[in-house]
Amino acid sequence: MSAVIWWLTLTLIAVSSAVIDGCLPSDRAALLAFRAALREPYLGIFNTWTGSDCCHWYGVSCDPKTYRVDEINLAGESDDLIFRQAHRSGYMTGNISHAICRLKYLSSITITDWKGITGDIPRCISSLPFLQILDLTGNRISSPIPGNIGRLRWLTFLSLADNLIYGRIPPSITKLTNLMHLDLRQNQLSGRIPRQFGQLKMLSRALLSHNRLAGWIPHSISEIYRLADFDLSSNQLSGPIPDWLGKMEVLSTLNLDGNKISGTIPGSLLNSRILNLNLSRNALNGNIPDSFGPRSYFITLDLSYNNLEGTIPKSLASAGYIGSMDVSHNHIRGQIPPGSPFDHL
Ligand SMILES: *[C@@H]1O[C@H](CO)[C@@H](O)[C@H](O)[C@H]1NC(C)=O
Ligand SMILES: *[C@@H]1O[C@H](CO)[C@@H](O)[C@H](O)[C@H]1NC(C)=O
Repeated sequence: MSAVIWWLTLTLIAVSSAVIDGCLPSDRAALLAFRAALREPYLGIFNTWTGSDCCHWYGVSCDPKTYRVDEINLAGESDDLIFRQAHRSGYMTGNISHAICRLKYLSSITITDWKGITGDIPRCISSLPFLQILDLTGNRISSPIPGNIGRLRWLTFLSLADNLIYGRIPPSITKLTNLMHLDLRQNQLSGRIPRQFGQLKMLSRALLSHNRLAGWIPHSISEIYRLADFDLSSNQLSGPIPDWLGKMEVLSTLNLDGNKISGTIPGSLLNSRILNLNLSRNALNGNIPDSFGPRSYFITLDLSYNNLEGTIPKSLASAGYIGSMDVSHNHIRGQIPPGSPFDHL
């Protein structure tokens, strides 16, 4: 009898320790190699990265069934207890080691707002077969976007914003057909927006502002039916504003300010679903189209710093709502017509 109990106890210990030591030695070794290229001097977040159970290390998660590492979540601005006790946000130097690519079951990588992480985006990251989230916002990473990024077919969220990323937006990015959120703001990207950008059919936010992108706005974007937030401001884009931008079903924020966009404002834009429209600081000319209507509902409408001329169109009085409007620094004459859209101004 006692032998049976012994045996049961031993079996239970064996089973439970297999669960507790869930993390695979190879995953653990990859994490330690990843850690070795980073230095976090103030908060000591890597102090928990000891012992065999890497699934319980700070910022590491494992799949509950397979015990494989599936998430790295290290955010330098966090409301985590460690940060609150230290009364400061994070600072980390070093680089993102290629060892991260040995964690084949990663679905989410978040390494954000550490301000001091340099080096490149490991090219091998494109070979992680299950990656859905890649967020490296707010570091000092200086490399091109990996040319084969399009291999990440499950990717839904890609943010490299606020780094020193340079080079072109690789055409293969248009193969990310599950991508919903793309944020490349505040980098040094140059060249054109890929012609086939519109293949990103699931995209609802495309934020490309504060780069050095040039050329025209590709026509294919008219096919991104879910696009709600489109920010191209502070680039070097040229050409006219396409008429179809005013016909997009759910587009609510359109920022084209701070480019070299020329031509006239398409009438469709002023009678669209857009709530926030910024066309400031371009080279737009001609009259403001007389195409406002009851559907025009602008929280902000900024047409300042262009070469617009003529008078304020009469139809403006029929707009559904104008929260704020700026037409300063143009050559516009006349008065804003009285009417209900402005009663609150
Ligand atoms: C990344 O960091 C490691 C460890 O500090 C260093 O040996 C390596 O040269 C760095 N690589 C790059 C590309 O900066
Ligand atoms: C429009 O963009 C300009 C910069 O290009 C900015 O100064 C201005 O505040 C923006 N307008 C609104 C209403 O946000």
